[in-house]
Amino acid sequence: MDPALVNRLSRPLPRYTSYPTTPHFRDDVGAETHASWVEDMPSSSRVSLYIHIPFCDTLCWFCACTTKITRRYEPIANYLRQMTAEIDRVSDLLPDGPQVDHIHWGGGSPDILAPEDISSLSALLRNRFAVADDAEFAIEVDPREVTNEKIDALVAAGLTRISLGVQDFDPAVQKAINRHQSIEKTRDVVDRFRAAGIASVNIDLVYGLPYQTTDTAGRTIEAVIALDPNRVAIFGYAHLPQRVTHQRLINNDSVPGIEERLVLSRIMSDNLTDAGYVRTGIDHFCKPDDTMAAGPLRRNFQGYTTDLSDALLGFGASAISRLPQGYVQNTIPIADYQRRIEQTGLGTVRGIMLSPQDKARAFAIEKLMCELRFPAHELCQRFGRAGACVADEGERLTDFRQNGLVEPTADGFIVTEKGRPFLRAIAAEFDAYLSLGSTTHSTGI
Ligand SMILES: C[S@@+](CC[C@H](N)C(=O)[O-])C[C@H]1O[C@@H](n2cnc3c(N)ncnc32)[C@H](O)[C@@H]1O
Ligand code: SF4
Repeated sequence: MDPALVNRLSRPLPRYTSYPTTPHFRDDVGAETHASWVEDMPSSSRVSLYIHIPFCDTLCWFCACTTKITRRYEPIANYLRQMTAEIDRVSDLLPDGPQVDHIHWGGGSPDILAPEDISSLSALLRNRFAVADDAEFAIEVDPREVTNEKIDALVAAGLTRISLGVQDFDPAVQKAINRHQSIEKTRDVVDRFRAAGIASVNIDLVYGLPYQTTDTAGRTIEAVIALDPNRVAIFGYAHLPQRVTHQRLINNDSVPGIEERLVLSRIMSDNLTDAGYVRTGIDHFCKPDDTMAAGPLRRNFQGYTTDLSDALLGFGASAISRLPQGYVQNTIPIADYQRRIEQTGLGTVRGIMLSPQDKARAFAIEKLMCELRFPAHELCQRFGRAGACVADEGERLTDFRQNGLVEPTADGFIVTEKGRPFLRAIAAEFDAYLSLGSTTHSTGI
């Protein structure tokens, strides 16, 4: 492909885990709006719960997650007290009826919680919400800190899936990102969860990390395939040292450039598909018998999900809730979160109410990110004039068509395999906020 086009496609872009994206949330949507949106939830709604635990015991220098390093348990115990108050408040607001089908604990490293806190947090959620008997319960796990007691507490709490951070197994890469994690340790954790009855294992990898080469990426992916995960997510390294200050500990010159990122991503993807994994969306791979392969998929803040619920209730510092009317986000600093919860029971500081245009664009972007298709007719049918306007914009992607990134269909267009690495750039064509204001995103590939 023409290098000029590659440059245009690789410009800094959002990951479209929501639309509008978080930099466009506004501070005139706060706790009051949040409370009224939760109160107005129809009793027939299906909801999901997201719990954010923003603590880890060591800092990985590449990390862009909202987390804080602590070697003491006291700050975590205090945080859990505030989160309990937030869960109580939101569940009081929620009308009777909505059923919970999915629970996700993310972070940070939620497995930093003591076994007794794992049990009591899970019991609180099940007491306060109508959690379905067959609800999915997934947790992000740092394999370096898991104990058998924690595994037992999670299994007793109804855990169904673990998502393990690996990133890369190469010692030079691990040194450069300050994350030392052996293949043996990771295998031991996978084996222990499986022996305890957890059938579904996801592994997170990152391409574009410092000192990654085609050889190291090939060896890492081979080792990961040997662990036999049900799903693998391969994220492009978001290197934003101007915003994420600890990333300045990584030598800029050791970070692969755009062309190298494309090659690294392709090596990992090809190895996985050769091993029988099905590629879904932009960066997820799953076994053919996994629910993710059958779809339908949705885009959420964790990436891709099979969770089709009407609303997502987020708890904890930085957590985002998705309600039928729009998005709301909690304050990010832990101390501010705790102060706000003490005052009002909610930590909300910003959000956005969705206009008909936002809803039509969100639908188009989610279909592109999840199904690699742009459904022009469906847009018009579902969203009327707002949808017709977005559908018209789909006609104008002439250079993407000429370069074989998209192909016209009877109902709009589809993204080709050549276009898949550039999905974010294709989705960005329908983002009405992108040109507004200055925000920091990572490269689009
Ligand atoms: C909350 S962590 C996973 C659980 C646990 N804390 C761990 O690291 O093992 C979420 C994932 O985000 C991804 N991630 C973090 N920082 C990133 C960055 N700068 N660019 C791309 N992916 C990143 C990593 O793959 C990481 O596994
Ligand atoms: S990658 Fe995971 S373990 Fe490392 S700092 Fe980030 S959240 Fe914590």
